[in-house]
Amino acid sequence: MAILDKHTVLEKNVTLLAIFAFLVVTVGGIVQIAPLFWLENTIEDVEGVRPYSPLELAGRDIYIREGCYVCHSQMIRPMRDEVERYGHYSLAAESKYDHPFQWGSKRTGPDLARVGGRYSDDWHVDHLRDPQSVVPESVMPKYGFLENRLIDGEYVGDLLKTHRMVGVPYTEEMIENARADFAVQVDPDGDWDGLVERYPGAQVRNFDGQAGISEADALIAYLQMLGTLVDFSTFTPDASR
Ligand code: HEC
Repeated sequence: MAILDKHTVLEKNVTLLAIFAFLVVTVGGIVQIAPLFWLENTIEDVEGVRPYSPLELAGRDIYIREGCYVCHSQMIRPMRDEVERYGHYSLAAESKYDHPFQWGSKRTGPDLARVGGRYSDDWHVDHLRDPQSVVPESVMPKYGFLENRLIDGEYVGDLLKTHRMVGVPYTEEMIENARADFAVQVDPDGDWDGLVERYPGAQVRNFDGQAGISEADALIAYLQMLGTLVDFSTFTPDASR
C-alpha cells in the first residue's frame, strides 16, 4: 500500500522521524491541555470546605515538619476496599487549600484523610506519646516531646498571609484576628464565637489536656478536623461536568 511505503521514508530518516514524532506529541498535548485554559475551574466547589483555622494550619506545619507524610497518605482512592476502610473517597476540593498537598505516596501507617473524630483527643495524646501503648505492633515513632513545646502564635498571622499569597482566600479580618483565633481554639471558656464564624465547624477544646498551647494541641486540632468539613450524608457529586 502506498501510504505504508511512504512510512519507510520516515523510519529510515531519524531527523524526519524526530520532527514527526514531535508534531504528534504536540498535537496530542494541545488536545489534552488546551481545554483546561477555558474551563473556569477544574475543581468542583463543595459546601463545607474552608481554609484552615490558624491553630489547624500551625498543626499542619508540624505534621509537615515531622515528616508524618512519609508514612501516611491523605488520599482515599475511589476503590471499594479503600472506601470501606476509610470512608468516602477524597474529593479534589478537600485539598484545595493545601499548600503543599499532603496526598503522600506511601502508607506505612493508615491513610489519615478522614481520621478526624475517629479517636478521642486523649487517644491521640497517648498515641503520640507512645504509639505502642495503644497499638502494640505499631512501628510509629514517639512524638511525646510535642506536648512540651509551647507555641505562642506570634507568627501565625504571617503564616496565613503566606498562604494567601498562593491563593487561599484568607480575609483581612482573618489575618488581623489570627493570633487571637489561634489562642482561643484551645480555650472553651474563651470568646470563640468569632473563630467559629470565620471557620465554620472549627472544634474548640483543650486538645492535649494541659495548660498552655503546645505543638501537640495544634497537631491534634489538625488531625481532628481532617475529613470532617464535608457532610457526606447530603453531598452529591456534580454530574454536569
Ligand atoms: C515510621 C512511619 C510513621 C511515621 C513517621 C508516623 N506514623 Fe503515624 N502510624 C504509623 C503506623 C504503622 C500506624 C498504625 C499503627 C498505630 O496506630 O500506631 C500509624 C497510625 C497513626 C494514626 C492512627 C490512624 C488510624 O486510623 O488508626 C495517626 C492519627 C497517626 N499515625 C498520626 C501520625 C502523625 C501525626 C505523625 C507525625 C507526627 C505520624 N503518624 C508519623 C506509622 C508512622
